[in-house]
Amino acid sequence: MKVLIHDLFQYLLETTDSAPEAIVGFSLSASPRLGDFLADLDPNQSLDWNSRDFRGLPELRDHVLAQAGLTGHCTPADVLITAGAAEANYLAIMQLLQPGDRIVIEAPGWPQAEVLAKAKGAEIVKVHRLEAEGWRLPLDRLAEAVTPGTRMVFLTNPNNPTGDLLSGSEVAEVVRIADRAGAWLLVDEVYAGLEWTGPRAPAVAGLYARGITTGSVSKALGLQGLRTGWIISPDAGLMRDALILRENSSEIMNIMGEVIAEIALRPARYAASLARARREGANNLAQMNAWLADQDRLSWVPPKAGLIGLARLADGMDSAAFARFLLKPPYRTFLMPGPAYDLPNHIRLGVGGGAEVRLHDGLDRLSQALRDWPLPKVSP
Ligand SMILES: Cc1ncc(COP(=O)(O)O)c(C=O)c1O
Repeated sequence: MKVLIHDLFQYLLETTDSAPEAIVGFSLSASPRLGDFLADLDPNQSLDWNSRDFRGLPELRDHVLAQAGLTGHCTPADVLITAGAAEANYLAIMQLLQPGDRIVIEAPGWPQAEVLAKAKGAEIVKVHRLEAEGWRLPLDRLAEAVTPGTRMVFLTNPNNPTGDLLSGSEVAEVVRIADRAGAWLLVDEVYAGLEWTGPRAPAVAGLYARGITTGSVSKALGLQGLRTGWIISPDAGLMRDALILRENSSEIMNIMGEVIAEIALRPARYAASLARARREGANNLAQMNAWLADQDRLSWVPPKAGLIGLARLADGMDSAAFARFLLKPPYRTFLMPGPAYDLPNHIRLGVGGGAEVRLHDGLDRLSQALRDWPLPKVSP
């Protein structure tokens, strides 16, 4: 079956030309400028491919292991550079799943796994994270869902969209659950590095023979436009299959993405960029929490990690209609409505973008729209 559009992308497609004046939902850190890298770039850099390794620049793959805490646990041969975490997930899912295979995913979660699994004709089993449980991943329900013969488990840690974070011991338990069933375990770590309440969780590629870690420079470093990410797994067969599919999709990496990502991930530079992203993200999150505390028609479980979280609208408020109302004058403000995550009563709020996004401006407009939204009529 062909790959079908998801509500999240449908909304982005419909609203890209709406020219909002404010965004309350930035999902990545402030993006550096090209000029920030010029001093480290070589004007003689060839714009041919890297001519050294089909898996990606060796020094970049070293940095990828280092930032994931995998140096000494995995080798550079276990890393393939891809066009973002999106391509990394794509390669793993498309090569591992066959029609009828069972994949266990979380809900709410990053929609990509469900979209691709549907196209593959896989059996999709959802494990629900509940707001009443603080959006925690319920490990008991996960264990029930991952039955023997389950082909794959796909999770995000930190979670998109709730901002929940699995601890090291929870990740170890998820590994045990996957291992009992012989399932592949893919953990998308695209938001790693932005933990607010605990340490970064260990990467599953270092814990499990069928563990797959995906990530990229898009979120914490704000380098989404480089389209540079990775897949890491100790399984040589999977890495070869991923390389073969990439050869037949994007073929090789874009050289500027690889070169700039390599500079961005050099340890000293990475540490400084991450410190700044964490400072700015924490400031925006504090501002968001303070603002939410004053709202009558909105409440949320603050994200434990990452730059996004879900806020609940007052009962009876339709999220999709409200998002479109907010996009119109006089508010002209963009946010992602809940149907993108099958949650019609929630909206997605973001604290990315650093100081540049002037979060307070978007929040003022959102407060106004919340006040102006007509209350449902109460029958006498
Ligand atoms: C959980 C998750 N995975 C993957 C992606 C895609 O990221 P990338 O830009 O690295 O392809 C996103 C982007 O929003 C995401 O939130």
